[in-house]
Amino acid sequence: MIENYKNKIIQGDSLELLKIIPDNSIDMSFADPPFNLKKEYNTYKDSLQVQEYLQWCEKWLSEMVRVTKPSGSIFVHNIPKWLTYFSTFLNKIADFKHWISWDAPTAPMGKTLQPSHYGILFYAKNSKNLKFYEIRYPHKRERKSKYLAKDYGGKKGLLHPFGPLVSDVWTDIHRIKHNKYRDEHPCQLPLHLLERLILMSTDENDIVLDPFNGTGTTALAAKRLGRNYICFDIDIDYVKITENKLLQEVANSKIGSSWVSFYLDNIVTIRDKDWNDLKQYFYIPQKIEEIDKQSIILFENVNLIRSNKEFSENNYSSNFNNLFETKEINFVD
Ligand SMILES: C[S@@+](CC[C@H](N)C(=O)[O-])C[C@H]1O[C@@H](n2cnc3c(N)ncnc32)[C@H](O)[C@@H]1O
Repeated sequence: MIENYKNKIIQGDSLELLKIIPDNSIDMSFADPPFNLKKEYNTYKDSLQVQEYLQWCEKWLSEMVRVTKPSGSIFVHNIPKWLTYFSTFLNKIADFKHWISWDAPTAPMGKTLQPSHYGILFYAKNSKNLKFYEIRYPHKRERKSKYLAKDYGGKKGLLHPFGPLVSDVWTDIHRIKHNKYRDEHPCQLPLHLLERLILMSTDENDIVLDPFNGTGTTALAAKRLGRNYICFDIDIDYVKITENKLLQEVANSKIGSSWVSFYLDNIVTIRDKDWNDLKQYFYIPQKIEEIDKQSIILFENVNLIRSNKEFSENNYSSNFNNLFETKEINFVD
């Protein structure tokens, strides 16, 4: 039955559409609902009374938990004000994992502190069965000198060549600033934000559900990463924009046999468990301390994989193998 809805963007009201999704059938559900901040959507009025908004949110939140598999994850993106209510509600029906603080300046909202993060609630349907993969992001570097931004002192030799494990504070993903990268939509999320969430909570061919599709960030991220998606939006124009974008997207966000997330030409998220396979595609200094001054670099040919051109192992000179650090070490996170 779920097969009927796989890889579709369905126009309609999410509460009605969620009813057609069977219990325990979704691997990851993600919601980025209207924030009730009077945003200019095409068809939706983003200014309900507080109680009306919260009651509506509780309905789709409980539906999201119902449709998610026992091994699945539930993510909800919003401003902290609403997330405090969502959390109180979700604590009764799912298992709290994290409040991810996504560092992103927001509009001034009052006379107290300047809001500077959005929250992403991360719940497990059932903590004991949760499917979860540790993920890594590239080391942060000074903009001009390119030196590592953090001082690891005498521990540089233990650094992971790619970068640290991702924590619950995300400062390396920026909101879409330039209009040339955004659709006609007031609050489109960056693709690599969704790709990170998908990489840490799902496997290839899993099903990702988003009841507030917008212009399809979740669907596109899922498709790029070889996952299935089911998305809803009340607005037919947003559905059409998404469908057009999906036509041009292929499932190729991959290096070798590992799915990864790119931003422009850089890899911005990998799974920790994939590093053993991925490291063969990077120049990595023999002395790992040297990554203090220079980033590890993807072989040029590797971009061919991303653009779906033919690629063979023969593209690499065997000399490259000499560059690799192969001994096992316990990395500093
Ligand atoms: C915050 S936006 C989602 C943006 C999306 N994450 C993206 O990156 O493009 C919320 C979306 O929910 C849709 N929406 C609002 N009420 C809805 C409802 N009752 N059912 C389905 N979609 C709804 C709006 O049309 C809007 O596109």
